Amino acid sequence: MRTQVGIVGAGPAGLMLSHLLHLAGIDSIVIENRSRAYCEARVRAGLMENWVAQLLIDTGVGERLNREAMVHDGIYVAFGGEARHIDFHKLIGKRVYIYDQKEVVTDLIAKRLGDGGQILFEVEDTSIHDFDGGRPKIRFRHGGAAQEIECDFIAGCDGFHGICRPSIPASAWRGYDRVYPFGWLGVLTESPPPEDELIYCFHERGFALFSMRGPQVSRLYIQVPPEEDADKWSDAQIWGELETRLGGVRPLKRGKILQKGVTPMRSYVTEPMQHGRLFLAGDAAHIVPPTGAKGMNLAIADVRVLSRAFEAHYKSGGEALLKDYSRTALNRVWKGQRFSWWMTQMLHRHSDEIDFDTKRQIAEIDYVTGSVAAMTSLAENYAGLPME
Ligand code: PHB
Repeated sequence: MRTQVGIVGAGPAGLMLSHLLHLAGIDSIVIENRSRAYCEARVRAGLMENWVAQLLIDTGVGERLNREAMVHDGIYVAFGGEARHIDFHKLIGKRVYIYDQKEVVTDLIAKRLGDGGQILFEVEDTSIHDFDGGRPKIRFRHGGAAQEIECDFIAGCDGFHGICRPSIPASAWRGYDRVYPFGWLGVLTESPPPEDELIYCFHERGFALFSMRGPQVSRLYIQVPPEEDADKWSDAQIWGELETRLGGVRPLKRGKILQKGVTPMRSYVTEPMQHGRLFLAGDAAHIVPPTGAKGMNLAIADVRVLSRAFEAHYKSGGEALLKDYSRTALNRVWKGQRFSWWMTQMLHRHSDEIDFDTKRQIAEIDYVTGSVAAMTSLAENYAGLPME
């Protein structure tokens, strides 16, 4: 097989890249080791920055998003028995969209296949070759047969545990990371969310987040130890803990728990995000803790930058944007990292004691939810820094 850009991974980054390249007249093939059903069913964080929703709409994949996404003006932050509203729309004129990552993936797969695009699911034993200056190749097995894609460039969009990043020689990159001493127990429930918008809770017993997937479906999270076994938690315990941490700021209706799991929390950045003709994008290059809701947004930002660079290369032979890809992408990535780390440290409990840091955190939350200058800064970052 032969294509211009070989894309490893059919998550939001790989699929959106393939879609944007197609609109620019550039061929790509996407390969993915999971099944289509798996990709379309995996519940992930669901918060979209304003410009990402607009990009999906502007490029013809926003039809269901327009119908089904919940559009929020802001968020609530609860602490000390009080919920304070931060109104992004009033502060900076922007809104955010609740639309699960799996819906974005579902829409992009349908669009790519509808446009005649090639996505190979359930491939095995993927490896990448000759991207260090030569003619890159992607080798894998599909339907039992050995296959090879020869391409001009490889886009590594295969997530944090993918094969692309570790294929770069160890001397050519480094990772920067921060591991947090807690995780999130996340549940999907058949119950109405306690508020029309998200509530981020700081509580003596730990952080909690009240999000949603629809008027009768909630997505709820509580801070737990990092290696926690989700099965240790009974439904009654989960509801009890959620209610305690909500601190009485809203009534909480209970319902059936449909799914539960623990997410570890980590910040990670690979530098540079390019090696020869291999370009990393999304979780393959960087991950964020979910507190700032930046994961998918940073992935889409990477491929927006990368698709423009490929476009310049194929239209006019201009190499400047490709050379600049890593630097341009990392500039935004580090701002997303900064914001995710900041939200995480501010809203979680770091020890069982009420100590200096706890008091400082409460002062910070009070300030951030009370000062127009501080709320504006949070709003700008949460709703998405400008792309251009
Ligand atoms: C979610 O709805 O899954 C979600 C929303 C906001 C976050 C994290 C997760 O910060």
